[in-house]
Amino acid sequence: MSDFRARMAESSEARKSRVVLALDLSGPVDDRVRRASAVLDRVKGGIAAVKLNHHLLLPFGLKGVGPILEACRAEKIPLIADLKLNDIESTNLNAVDSLFSAGFDAVIANPFVGFKEGLEGVFTQAHSLGRGVILLVYMSHAGAAEGYGLRDASGEPIYRLFARRAKDWRADGVVVSAKSGDVIREVRNVVGDEMLIFTPGVGTQGGSSASAAAAGADYQIVGRSITEAGDPAEALKTLLGR
Ligand code: XMP
Repeated sequence: MSDFRARMAESSEARKSRVVLALDLSGPVDDRVRRASAVLDRVKGGIAAVKLNHHLLLPFGLKGVGPILEACRAEKIPLIADLKLNDIESTNLNAVDSLFSAGFDAVIANPFVGFKEGLEGVFTQAHSLGRGVILLVYMSHAGAAEGYGLRDASGEPIYRLFARRAKDWRADGVVVSAKSGDVIREVRNVVGDEMLIFTPGVGTQGGSSASAAAAGADYQIVGRSITEAGDPAEALKTLLGR
């Protein structure tokens, strides 16, 4: 088991949770870090990991989100950077250098960019530091089929090719929409039991965490149903069935 997967397992076991909190705060920008920290404080005992996206990283940068990174480190909550890396290797490496130096445990990347001069260096760098790489395999928005559902000349859907890449490139996890149980099952068959499957799209986007888990998903990524709830802790409890 890779270091990142081991840290996810440890955190998930300690807090009895399979929820990855997408700390995506919208609305007025100025107090987003304060509001995000307040949400984190309310739910930190019941989440397996925290995922940060453009909502906080763009306006505040890695220095500005320092209080959130520190809070996660203090609680040993793994941190995932969701920038969906999709560039040439030198640019990708620049990004992961900053992210890993800031303490992120894993990055999400797009397999579309390919291995050679694309993601190879990211995998090498991540694994040499005990960090993880998670690949996007099938997204959950309405247009996902226009990209991830395209078929190659032999009729094979791109997401299956991406699942094979995840296995061949020794990814630590994949992202597959919670709304596509059949795709989760198919991907699980391709990637085997060791690979972590993260499923976004539950709650606000209408997917069900129970059916995603039944189809083979390990972790559910949840954002707005928690961050925009009147009481984030209650929303998390409901999600966890407690
Ligand atoms: P919500 O608010 O919809 O947030 O619970 C989901 C988070 O996960 C990120 N993300 C995805 N979301 N399909 C999604 O719906 C995907 O395939 C996907 N991949 C990542 C999203 O950006 C937000 O941070």
